[in-house]
Amino acid sequence: MIDQLSLTNFKAFRSADIPLAPVTLLTGLNSSGKSSVLQAFVLLRQSYDSSTLFSSGGGLLLNGELVELGTGLDVLHEDVVHTPGLPTPLISIGLRTSEGQNFNWSALYAAEQDVLTLHSASDAQRTKSVFDRRRFQYLKADRIAPATSYPKSHHQAIGLGFLGASGEHTVNYLRHHARRPLTSKPLRHPKAQTNNFLDHVVAWMQELCPGVNLEATEIPGIDAVRLSYGFDGTAGLTSSARRRPTNVGFGLTYALPIVVACLSAGPGSLILLENPEAHLHPRGQSRMATLMAAAAAAGAQLIVETHSDHVLNGLRLAVKNGAMSATDTAVHYFRRRGLQAEIVTPRIHEDGSLSDWPEGFFDEWENSLEQLLD
Ligand SMILES: Nc1ncnc2c1ncn2[C@@H]1O[C@H](COP(=O)(O)OP(=O)(O)O)[C@@H](O)[C@H]1O
Ligand SMILES: [Mg+2]
Repeated sequence: MIDQLSLTNFKAFRSADIPLAPVTLLTGLNSSGKSSVLQAFVLLRQSYDSSTLFSSGGGLLLNGELVELGTGLDVLHEDVVHTPGLPTPLISIGLRTSEGQNFNWSALYAAEQDVLTLHSASDAQRTKSVFDRRRFQYLKADRIAPATSYPKSHHQAIGLGFLGASGEHTVNYLRHHARRPLTSKPLRHPKAQTNNFLDHVVAWMQELCPGVNLEATEIPGIDAVRLSYGFDGTAGLTSSARRRPTNVGFGLTYALPIVVACLSAGPGSLILLENPEAHLHPRGQSRMATLMAAAAAAGAQLIVETHSDHVLNGLRLAVKNGAMSATDTAVHYFRRRGLQAEIVTPRIHEDGSLSDWPEGFFDEWENSLEQLLD
């Protein structure tokens, strides 16, 4: 597991060490630096995947398939930390693993460049060890919308098992893995009809919409796949017709990549999620946290940006119910101090309570209630 991320001169961070746990929640006001934490990982990943993350002539690839950060000027923190003896500032990303290994990549700032040359980097063999054994998922806040078809990339969905930064390969992944047994016990849903991957996905999706079922099929002759929904007893309605995603509530399709990412997790997986709560009703948001806790119990590490107190409370409940240990969670509240991102870290206790509630940290419910009762 990666137990700390260190950032220097990276976007909202002048210099920060961010502790990480099997499940880490990144919370806080808009534009407080949460996505930048995920982007630091994604930047490393896309640089690694395009073979630029090596010391000799390599660099950090700012614009790629996963993330587009602009040029050095966009990324360099405004209130720069200078390195003694170097005329150019360094933009650095460091990782520490729970086994005590340290990795660091420091790139030289260049205003106009979008590949920042590495000044120093952990050696290539060690770098391989941190990336190769980690299954990786990154799901951005803007994900696939309901559509009549989705791409069928064998390389991404099946070769790499990658769902796409917008979840665009999810349907193809689901089609390919529909009948494989789900081996990881913590991820199994007790109401799944069989132990097949698809039936577990369906059972978890039924937490969001009771009675729903899914099918992912190939569209013959073209490189595309199709998703369809069935509803049986949903909200009192029974219908035998299958529905295409465009005729079904937005939230279901939006949540599907999150569900599939969590269910495909295994030991060593790194799953980065932005707003898993998007377009879900409150109970569904809480269930996403249950699923995240299950993915962590299956051996994955999750780093999750969220604005949802239901996700937070779902995680607290998972701890209270014994689905995961309090020490396997980290909750960070980001706020701005001038140009800098400042991080406060309330702890979840084993009984699900929180060590403190900094001002602005999920306190709006209480603030509003106070005014209503006044
Ligand atoms: N180069 C930079 N220097 C300083 N601050 C930056 C830089 N780039 C972005 N930011 C700040 O980072 C914040 C955006 O961070 P982001 O991680 O997208 O926020 P969140 O996900 O919390 O909404 C904004 O406040 C922006 O001003
Ligand atoms: Mg964000």
